[in-house]
Amino acid sequence: MAVVVVGSDHAGFDLKESLKLFLEKLGHQVIDVGCFFKERTDYPLFAERACQLVLKSLADYAILICGTGLGMCIASNRFKGIRAALCTNEYMAKMARRHNDANVLCLGSRVVGEDLAKEIVRAFLGEKFEGGRHERRLYMVESLGEEEITL
Ligand code: RB5
Repeated sequence: MAVVVVGSDHAGFDLKESLKLFLEKLGHQVIDVGCFFKERTDYPLFAERACQLVLKSLADYAILICGTGLGMCIASNRFKGIRAALCTNEYMAKMARRHNDANVLCLGSRVVGEDLAKEIVRAFLGEKFEGGRHERRLYMVESLGEEEITL
């Protein structure tokens, strides 16, 4: 069982609340970093809080929800050591863990329904990183931008 931090903006609030109960039913420990109300707010605030907990090893994974999942994904991937994956189906969720070692799952509440979101979460948390050649590729990704490009 995992420690999972959840976060959302106003658009993702209802889905976050529903996924919290689902995660607890599956036996996971849930940390909620907000938002706590449905008033309009800004997704980067919650992406930052959740990613910090993952980077400090206070949570194993984060699940971040906004309207499309895009804002949460873009914001999360600004943090070195975070590998955020926007998933719209179970296959993507499984591969995000197996091949990309994603530690943040992003969901779009206006893109996936509640039942599909639950299955995506179940698939994501049920998979392990395969390592091997994928480890090398992740290392390459981590190193991107470190060398000056000469054209
Ligand atoms: C809010 O309307 C919306 O822009 C936000 O939830 C998210 O989809 C941004 O990427």
